[in-house]
Formats: sequence, C-alpha cells, structure tokens
Amino acid sequence: MSTLGIVGAGHIGSTVARLAVDAGVDVVIANSRDPETLADLVADLGPRARAATAEEAAGAGDLVVLTVPLKALGDLPVAAFEGRVVLDTGNYYPQRDGRIADLDDGSTTASELTARTLPGARVVKVFNNIFSEHLGALARPQAPAGSDERSVLAIAGDDASAKQAATALLDTIGYDVVDAGPLSEGWRFQPDTPAYGLPYDGSTDGTWSGSTAKRVGAEELRAALAAATRG
Ligand SMILES: NC(=O)c1ccc[n+]([C@@H]2O[C@H](COP(=O)([O-])OP(=O)(O)OC[C@H]3O[C@@H](n4cnc5c(N)ncnc54)[C@H](OP(=O)(O)O)[C@@H]3O)[C@@H](O)[C@H]2O)c1
Repeated sequence: MSTLGIVGAGHIGSTVARLAVDAGVDVVIANSRDPETLADLVADLGPRARAATAEEAAGAGDLVVLTVPLKALGDLPVAAFEGRVVLDTGNYYPQRDGRIADLDDGSTTASELTARTLPGARVVKVFNNIFSEHLGALARPQAPAGSDERSVLAIAGDDASAKQAATALLDTIGYDVVDAGPLSEGWRFQPDTPAYGLPYDGSTDGTWSGSTAKRVGAEELRAALAAATRG
C-alpha cells in the first residue's frame, strides 16, 4: 500500500503513523482541529507524513485508521469514509464516552456501532487490546510473518477482503494476525476481557505507563479470545 489515512492523532494514531512511516508507507493524519496543530507531529514523522483535515485523511487512501474516542463518532465526515476499509481502534469507556445503551445491554459491539455510523465503509476492528506504547515496542517489521519474534493482534470484521487488507498492513508494520470472526465477535477483545490484558507484562507502579510489553503468540491469543465471557 502507498498511503494510509489516519483520523485521530493521539496515542494510537501517532504510534500507527510512526510504524507506517518507518515501514515506508505515506500517511495523511488528522485530528479534530486545524491541520496546523499537527505541525510538530508531522515534522517529527518526516517527509512521508502530511497533516490534513479529517475529511482529507479519510479519503487519502484505500485504508484509513479511525482512532478517536467513541463519543466523537457523531462528528465524523461520514461521506469521506465511503468505500474505505476502516481500521477501528475504538473502545467503549462509559466514563469518557457517556453511557451507550446498546453497548451496555450487549445488543451490539463498539465496532458495529462504528460500522452503523459509517454505512459506506468496511470496518475492521483492530489495535483495540494493546496499549499504544506496547504497540510501538512490539512491532517487528523485519521478522518473517509467523516467526517467534512476531507478536499477534486480533482483528474482527464482516468483509473478507477488508480483513485481508488489514492483515497486509499489519504485516507491513510488523504484526501477525488472529481472526476473531465477524464484528459481532469483537467484544472478545474489548476492555475487561483476557485478551485485553495479554500484551502486558506486569506494571511497576500500577499504571499502564508503568507496564512493560510482552510478546503474544497466536495460540495464546486464540485461547484468550475463546475464554472471554460477556459481562
Ligand atoms: N491509548 C491506547 O493505548 C489505546 C489502546 C487501544 C485502543 N484505544 C482506543 O482508541 C481510541 C483512540 O485512543 P487514543 O488513546 O489514541 O486517544 P487520544 O490520545 O485521546 O487521541 C484522540 C484523537 O482523536 C482526535 N479526535 C477526536 N474527535 C475527532 C474528530 N471528530 N475528528 C478527528 N479527530 C478527532 C483527537 O483530536 P483533538 O486532539 O483535536 O481532540 C485526538 O487526536 C479510543 O477509542 C481508545 O479507547 C486506545
């Protein structure tokens, strides 16, 4: 792939941008404000990165990483996502996003909500169960796919070709993939599941930032996905 759109330039968006640029992929990245506010980030990322509006970033390539708080879904430029493969990192945190009844009662999942919001897009849930610092630390782009050096991330989605495109991007930036099934199974790696805590190797001070990253293999991830229960 040549260009990756990234809507959301926070912890995950900037980390994915760094991994993509380092792997030779051009990125067009946006936050909710004037692209000028991302001048420092794109300067740090180098010539492969460009800041844009969310509309431009969503339309920049076939793939777009959507990495904003769930509460921002209603503010997105929906038409710009038409026909795109959308890699959705969104997790539901009621304390941040407010209560969403359809998620509280388990009748849908966070990425199904994204898919409903962006009806012209093919949504793949990914990057949801890994802390941004660990996402940067565990990437092994030079290691062969399937090797013991690679860590594995879960994906979920309803469209096979979209999942193939997501898998190809993950391979480029240095991750293998376990397919957790359709979007409706995405709850298996949402917060408070065994898979959610998997890439963490303890914490020195009880916080995420005090934790270290742990490589996760395919069998370990499959077992965690299978062990998940819906609260
Ligand atoms: N942090 C993690 O390690 C982690 C791990 C896995 C999944 N997640 C999930 O991934 C999502 C993003 O998390 P994060 O930690 O990266 O968030 P974050 O650091 O708070 O960054 C959020 C980004 O989204 C942008 N944004 C908000 N509304 C927008 C809109 N309408 N259009 C365009 N951009 C918009 C913000 O821009 P402004 O600065 O202009 O507001 C900011 O750049 C969340 O759902 C989170 O739960 C996070």
